[in-house]
Formats: sequence, structure tokens, C-alpha cells
Amino acid sequence: MKNKSNRIDERLIETLADGQFHSGQALADALGVSRTAINKHIDNLDALQLDVFRVHGKGYRLAQPLQLLKFDLIREQLREHQAPIYLKRVTSSTHDDLKQLLVDAPGKTLTPGTCVLAEMQTRGRGRRGRTWLSPFGSNLYASFYWPLPEGLNSALGLSVAVGLRLAQILEQAGIQGVSVKWPNDVYIQGAKVAGVLVELEGEPTGEGHALIGIGLNLSMPERFTQNIEQPYTDVQKHLDAPLNRHQWAVTLIRGVTDVLEQFRRHGLADLVTEWRRLDHFYNQPVNILLGQHVQQGVGQGIDNYGALLVRQGSGLKRYFGGEISIRARQ
Ligand code: BTN
Repeated sequence: MKNKSNRIDERLIETLADGQFHSGQALADALGVSRTAINKHIDNLDALQLDVFRVHGKGYRLAQPLQLLKFDLIREQLREHQAPIYLKRVTSSTHDDLKQLLVDAPGKTLTPGTCVLAEMQTRGRGRRGRTWLSPFGSNLYASFYWPLPEGLNSALGLSVAVGLRLAQILEQAGIQGVSVKWPNDVYIQGAKVAGVLVELEGEPTGEGHALIGIGLNLSMPERFTQNIEQPYTDVQKHLDAPLNRHQWAVTLIRGVTDVLEQFRRHGLADLVTEWRRLDHFYNQPVNILLGQHVQQGVGQGIDNYGALLVRQGSGLKRYFGGEISIRARQ
């Protein structure tokens, strides 16, 4: 159960989310705590790296208004989604939450499509042991549970399918210059906007499941961006009107569960051509980095198993996951 202090932090954030000034006394009255307690809770918001201004005689306000996700709104709009959805304010990683749900679940299994969303991750994980920058109330962080009754081998290509669907969602929002980079990075005009992290648990040919984590940059606060190692972007930069985070959360959950179902039924068969249309490297000269080794070739899209296809000399070579990177060759 949430402790009382966390609950007050949450109510404080909800009150300050409008970006307006609130006096210490008004906050204390609204939350039923003392002025001193408000100071302490404001310090907690600093620890969450929320940018709180304090102005003498005026009180407190957030540097930017926040559009907090409201669980009831999301659930209401996703009536067709049979599986549970959880919304956390602050968590280490939504992947950790899914793992904990599995440990606690009777029979150690969850409803397919069970989803954990969070407003902030303190230890968000990216692929290859990288961290995934997950500041509060700005982007989307979600993990989905998906069973693999035919074993982990049946997950080949699954992350490709999810990355592709994210790209389609961005295009449907009217964004230009969307592309995918194998295996599952999503780009807008050459800058990364979303990533997919798939963890598999179980046996290669026995039963297992996938945990599918998605990070989608909706509006990354500028002050967090200095340490991002690669060109990055966010959705808001490519839209004229302010985006609606709820709508994006709903579209993401709907799109991902839909593509997981499509993948379960048909694998990648229907998606290979669509991948080619959005593939950043299709017919482009590329370097394939395999640890210390570099192979040169020309990108040729993917096959039905999600393997990367590269023309090298007169042959076509297939590359599977793991520690492979693909780079444009000048
Ligand atoms: C990548 O490196 O491109 C994959 C990034 C995946 C980030 C998401 S955010 C939700 C889920 N929880 C995590 O800790 N990571 C994934």
C-alpha cells in the first residue's frame, strides 16, 4: 500500500500540475498538512527532478504545466482491452513491475496484454545495458506481458513488429520523415523518438513469455537532454498543436496489443513489405558492427523471421539479434 507521505507528494504534484502559483498556506490547507510539511514535500518533488519555482510572497509553481495521466480516463477509453492496466507515478522500471506482478500471480502467469504504465522511471533500461531517460510526466513508459506458449523461438521478429507499429502510429498522427532502424528503433527525421526492449523468460521450445517495454518520447524537457548520447527527438517537436498524453497512451496500448495479436496469428509475414517502406537503411550502404568486427554491405530490409538482410558482394547475408549494430556508411 502507498504510504501517506507518497500520497501527499502525489496530491501536491496534481495541484501544481496546472503550472500556476499556489501559496504554501493554500497548499497546506488543501492537503490537510502544516506549512512545514509542505516544504518537506516540495523537497521530495525536487528529488523527482521536477522543476519547482519558489517565489517569496507568491508560493510555488512548476516551471511547466504537467498533463498527468489519469487512470480512469485511460481505462474508460480502452474498454475493449481485456487485460489489467496499471498506472504508476514513480517506479524503478515498468519491466520490474511486470516481473513483480508475475512473481505475485497465482500460477505465475498474467493475462496477455497486461500493461504497466509509469509517469517516471528511476532506473529505466534501454537495450545493451543502456539507461533510458525517464523524467516525470513528460513521455510514455510502458511494459506489456505477452505469453509464448510455443516457446521463446516463436518470439523471433516480435520486437521488429512492435517497432514497426510505433512508426505507423507516428505516421498516422501526421508526422513526416518517420523511419525504423533494425531491430526496433523508431526515428523521426534521423533522430530517435522511441525504443523497444524485449526480455524473454522461459524455454526455447517450452513455455515462456515476453516482457515488451516501450519508451516513447512525447515531450522531453530540455534540461534532461545534455547526456543523451545520440540524436534524439520527441513527438511534440513534430506537431503543430499541443499533444494529448492520454490519447497517445491509449493509442499506444491499443496499437501494441493489436500488433502482438497480429504477430501471434501471422508472424511477420504481412509486415515485411511495410518494413521496407519505412526502413531507414533500405538500399543504403551500411556498416554492420559485430563486436570489434565491421562488415560492409547494402541494407535489404528483413526476412519473415525479423533477421536483418544485407547484400554483401553477390550474396545476401542474414543477421540475427544480439550485439549487432547497423550504421550508415558514408
Ligand atoms: C532502447 O534502448 O531503445 C529500448 C528502450 C526501452 C525503454 C522502455 S521504457 C518502459 C520499459 N521499462 C524500461 O526500463 N525500459 C523499457
